[in-house]
Amino acid sequence: MRFILKGLPNARQADFFASRARHTAYGGARGGGKSWAMRRKLVLLSLYHPNLNALLLRRTLPELRENHLIPLLKELKGVADYNGAERVFRFCNGSRIRLGYCDGANDVYQYQGQEYDVIGLEEATHFTEEQMRFLTTCNRTVKAGFRPRMYYTCNPGGVGHGWVKRLFIDRRYAQGERKEDYAFIPARVWDNPVLLQADPDYVRVLQALPEELRRAYLDGDWDVHAGQFFREFARAAHVVRPFEPPAWWKRFRSIDWGYNDPCAVLWHAVDGEGRVYTYRELYVRHTRADAVAAQMRALSEGEAIAYTVASPDMWQKRGAVLKSEGGFEGESIAELFALSGVPLTPADNSRVAGWQRVRGYLASAPDGLPRWQCFDTCENLVRTLPLLSFDHHNREDAADGEDHAPESLRYALMSRPAHSVAPASPAARAYNPLSGEAPGAQSFLTI
Ligand SMILES: Nc1ncnc2c1ncn2[C@@H]1O[C@H](COP(=O)(O)OP(=O)(O)O)[C@@H](O)[C@H]1O
Ligand SMILES: [Mg+2]
Repeated sequence: MRFILKGLPNARQADFFASRARHTAYGGARGGGKSWAMRRKLVLLSLYHPNLNALLLRRTLPELRENHLIPLLKELKGVADYNGAERVFRFCNGSRIRLGYCDGANDVYQYQGQEYDVIGLEEATHFTEEQMRFLTTCNRTVKAGFRPRMYYTCNPGGVGHGWVKRLFIDRRYAQGERKEDYAFIPARVWDNPVLLQADPDYVRVLQALPEELRRAYLDGDWDVHAGQFFREFARAAHVVRPFEPPAWWKRFRSIDWGYNDPCAVLWHAVDGEGRVYTYRELYVRHTRADAVAAQMRALSEGEAIAYTVASPDMWQKRGAVLKSEGGFEGESIAELFALSGVPLTPADNSRVAGWQRVRGYLASAPDGLPRWQCFDTCENLVRTLPLLSFDHHNREDAADGEDHAPESLRYALMSRPAHSVAPASPAARAYNPLSGEAPGAQSFLTI
């Protein structure tokens, strides 16, 4: 069979095609031809390797249809047959490209147990790190001589901004990750002569965007984070070198519970002005409640902890005994903590008011310093707080992502007096800066 695939790659697209890394990201500005290159790469691989099994994913179905299904139907006419029910393109050499989407956080698990020689993640920053990690486990092959690989296209911004930036831009690797496995090809709209010629106004549209979006979408700048939730967070102002908080400062802790997700425990100290310092963190995964409690007790040795606020779901979730039909029974996680010597108080989980409270503490007090500061040893909090993005559906809320440490901070600050720029209420006027306590604050403040 003879057929012609129209279009030649531009120079950057050719670099993307030529990459031999296990993970290759093509990213940066919009309009550079990333989606085109992703589709073409999967098609070329499918034609070259018989019986190849490829998966192309986007976060939502409408995006998948617009961005890939419609163009692929056009591009692969006479080259591959499309089965709409399965969302699969079949080539006559036995290769297949399956199109999929992962709208909900758990949608990736539909790929459990499946095996794909090649996986393409379109707009990878729309996926969480957990989703990416899970998908990586499905990227394996039984083909002799074939190296399984993943391709990513991405723009700055979104819930996955942090992990994409870490792996491909900052190139900071954790244990088990090898830097030679990751390659990044920068994309600019200027690289795409087809688009520049066909739609010269497109560049003007990008140029007219507000500063932050323009830097992200036109310049492909990964330091600004379009959609960043806490733009007021500044490392220079909020992150400090550790010091020993005086013994008379009130100390308390906060927990965002997780077992598969990280469990984020933070320790806070309040000075005489009501300024809160987060001075320690414990960020652990796959650790049982009693073990987390034991670590908390060991770390708090010799410190007077006034109270510990914790995610309210810890009173619903059970954690001790695995039932034969699945699920857990027995004590709630909160009870397990209590039994292990760490009594908990349910945190106020009002999300919008809580994030607002965090904003109040990020703002400066009359002395010019922020009302909340954090020791630079709290690495995960310092890393993830600036990565929170706006929820697209509710601009007052933050989107899902690696939000465990920020949630823990939110619980903590919800147990402290509010700082707002609104005129002082009678309660606020009666606020006692020496004790750092507001009258009427929940009783657990004095536990
Ligand atoms: N090498 C190419 N040949 C022909 N058309 C291309 C090529 N690269 C990109 N295009 C076209 O340019 C436009 C923008 O490309 P796209 O891949 O959607 O960019 P991005 O995903 O980076 O925003 C699309 O219409 C696409 O079909
Ligand atoms: Mg695209």
